[in-house]
Amino acid sequence: MAATPLTVIRGDGIGPDIVDAALTVLDAVGADFDRAFVDVGQAALDKGETDPMPQAAVDSIERTGLVLKGPVTTPVGQGYRSVNVAMRKQFDLYANVRPTLSLPGTRARYDDIDIITVRENKGGMYSGEGQVTSDDGQRAEALSVVTREQSERIIRFAFDMARDRGRQKVTLAHKANIMKSTSGLFLKVGREIAAEYDDIEYDEIIVDACAMKLVMAPEQFDVIVTTNLFGDIISDLCAGLIGGLGLAPGANIGQHCAMFEAVHGSAPDIAGQGIANPTSVILAAALMLDHLGDNERATRIRTAVRETIAAGDRTTPDLGGDGRTDTFAEAVVERLTA
Ligand SMILES: NC(=O)c1ccc[n+]([C@@H]2O[C@H](COP(=O)([O-])OP(=O)(O)OC[C@H]3O[C@@H](n4cnc5c(N)ncnc54)[C@H](O)[C@@H]3O)[C@@H](O)[C@H]2O)c1
Repeated sequence: MAATPLTVIRGDGIGPDIVDAALTVLDAVGADFDRAFVDVGQAALDKGETDPMPQAAVDSIERTGLVLKGPVTTPVGQGYRSVNVAMRKQFDLYANVRPTLSLPGTRARYDDIDIITVRENKGGMYSGEGQVTSDDGQRAEALSVVTREQSERIIRFAFDMARDRGRQKVTLAHKANIMKSTSGLFLKVGREIAAEYDDIEYDEIIVDACAMKLVMAPEQFDVIVTTNLFGDIISDLCAGLIGGLGLAPGANIGQHCAMFEAVHGSAPDIAGQGIANPTSVILAAALMLDHLGDNERATRIRTAVRETIAAGDRTTPDLGGDGRTDTFAEAVVERLTA
């Protein structure tokens, strides 16, 4: 069978180290990809590009429709806008999927967390639309737009995903009591769609109560579907529950393109030291295999990562070990090839 075309963005800071670790793991499991390496953001500018999203990267992503991505630095307060946000818009990556699972050997707050956050990735308050500050600096405004079409497709995505993965329940998190138009529309559409899926339990929760209950009793959550900004916050909260962003993979899914990534940033404070934890992007690579229908290899990777961390075998300092990015990857590879 022909190798699957894949665009690889190694990213900035710790990105190249952890993406290389994930590629080594994919090789070890025998996943056959035809890889095209491209740069975006700071890495592209450093190589003399004038655009943080160079045409060569756009062409490669359009051609392959599949991306494995390391973290990309976004300059604060000046320079270009986030290439992460730009890519979501440009390639219509409307669904952000963030699974969080407790792993033994980590600082997970509970040992039974298994929650998938499905976040609408393009609209709402997070989209950055209509941001204006008055000339005298006394008033600022931004536009939050929620549409029926956007809501329908993300909520349907969450229910379909729940059904495909044998999950029991979808919880819709909203703030329709106060944000009656935007959150109200999302909730209304959610109720309509939930009625079509009588095999999946549905409930709804106000987002602030959701945050509290996630901290106090996370076992009651299964799949959470929500709007862009709430999803941004809730999914990081879930990552905190399992011991941090370094353990949580993410997927951005559209109809013609899917991008799998580490959800943390480029960690400039430890860049170049070779000690970054590659788990997030290795698990993102497993999610990519799931997306391609190769659950067998995906499960093997997850099992090897779980066993490596549980054994404390060459784990990185953030997990309390004295291993390095490459030695941790070696430990995972040894389990895969044993
Ligand atoms: N998806 C992305 O590309 C993405 C996501 C978030 C932030 N960023 C960008 O990354 C840059 C740095 O952001 P930040 O410092 O706020 O967040 P960060 O996630 O890079 O770092 C926060 C803390 O977590 C640690 N950390 C992160 N990943 C780790 C790993 N794999 N192993 C061990 N420790 C890890 C860092 O050392 C740091 O102490 C910014 O430019 C930001 O815009 C990119």
